[in-house]
Amino acid sequence: MFKEMLEYDETLFKDELVLDYEYLPKILKFRENQQQHFATTIKPLLQKRNGSNLFIYGTPGIGKTAACKHVLRELELETDLVIPLYINCWKHDTVYKILVEMCEQLKYKWVQNKKTDELMKAIAEILNQKAAVFVLDEVDKLKEQQIIYQLLEDIYKKCIFMITNDKDCLAKLDQRVKSRLLPEMLEFKPYNYDETKGILEERKNAGFFPGVFSEQAFEKIAETCFEREDIRVGIFLLKQSANNAENKSQRKVLVDHVETEKLDRFEKAKIKVDDDDKTILNIVKEKPGLSIASIYEIFSKNSDKSLRTVRRRIERLRDLKQVIFEETPTGSVVK
Ligand SMILES: Nc1ncnc2c1ncn2[C@@H]1O[C@H](COP(=O)(O)OP(=O)(O)OP(=O)(O)O)[C@@H](O)[C@H]1O
Ligand SMILES: [Mg+2]
Repeated sequence: MFKEMLEYDETLFKDELVLDYEYLPKILKFRENQQQHFATTIKPLLQKRNGSNLFIYGTPGIGKTAACKHVLRELELETDLVIPLYINCWKHDTVYKILVEMCEQLKYKWVQNKKTDELMKAIAEILNQKAAVFVLDEVDKLKEQQIIYQLLEDIYKKCIFMITNDKDCLAKLDQRVKSRLLPEMLEFKPYNYDETKGILEERKNAGFFPGVFSEQAFEKIAETCFEREDIRVGIFLLKQSANNAENKSQRKVLVDHVETEKLDRFEKAKIKVDDDDKTILNIVKEKPGLSIASIYEIFSKNSDKSLRTVRRRIERLRDLKQVIFEETPTGSVVK
C-alpha cells in the first residue's frame, strides 16, 4: 500500500519550467507551414531588400506567439544583419513604452531624459544600418497606433508582423497606416486531435517523470484540450492534476485527479459578455486606471449588484483578457 505513496520530499514534476505557458520548446511541431510563411516574408531582408508585412490572427492558445518567437530565434542564429524585435503591445501599449522596450532589446543605454522622437531617432540610426523584423504581439491592445506609422516611415528595411485574436482590429487602423502596411493575412487554425495530443505528450514527457500519468488521465486531458481548442488548457490540466495527485501523496495521476470543472477561466475562446460586462468595460475604457471599488461606485448608480459580484465580474474579464490589473503604489487598478 505504501509503495504507491509519495515520500514527503518526492515529486512528480521533473521540470516545472517546461510547464510554463511562456516556455518555448526546441522544436515546434505542426506549425511548419506558418513558420515557413514567416521565413519567406523575412527572406528579402537577408538579400538587403525591403520585406513585407504580415497580419497573423487566430483564437487563443494555438501557437501564434510560439511559432513567431521560434522563427525569430532561428533568425538570430542565422544572421547578424537582421535584428528581431518582439513587443507585447499589452505590456507596452504606448509609443514611448514601446520605444523604451526596443532600446532595452537593442542594449541602447542612453534612454533617460530622452523624448519620444529622440528615442525613435536613436533606434532608427541603429536599425537602418541593418534590417529589422518587428513583431507586435497582441496588437489590438495597442493604445497608440502611430508607432506602426513611425516604423513604416522611419525604418528602411523591415517586416512588421502583427499578431492578434481580433481579426477586425486591422480594419480599425488609420487609413494612412493601412495603405502603407498592406499586410498579407495569415490565419492560424486550431490543432486537430492528434496534433493536440502530440504537443501535450511532448510537454508531459519533458515536464514529468516517466509513467506519472495513467493513460486514462492523459486521454482526458488531451480530449478536453482538443474540445477547448487551446493548448494552455492542456498544460494547465497537466499541472493541476499532478498537483492534485501529489497533494494526495499519490505516485500516479489518475483520471479523477483531472478536474475539468475548474476551466471557466479558459472560456475566452468563445467569449460571451453580457450587458453588465459591457457596462464595466465601458467604464474601464472611459476611465482607465480606476480601482475596483471606484468602478463599482460608478456601476452601482444603475444597478443593485453587490461589490463582490462586480469584483468577480472584473476578475473574469481579466481572465478573458479584456482588462488588465496593474499594481500601483496606492493599490491595484484596472485598465
Ligand atoms: N506546436 C506547438 N508545439 C509545442 N507547444 C505549443 C505548440 N503550439 C502551442 N504550444 C504551446 O501552447 C501555449 C500557447 O501557445 P501561444 O502562446 O503561442 O498561443 P497564442 O496563439 O499566441 O495565444 P494568444 O492568442 O492567447 O496569445 C504555449 O505554452 C506554447 O508553448
Ligand atoms: Mg500569443
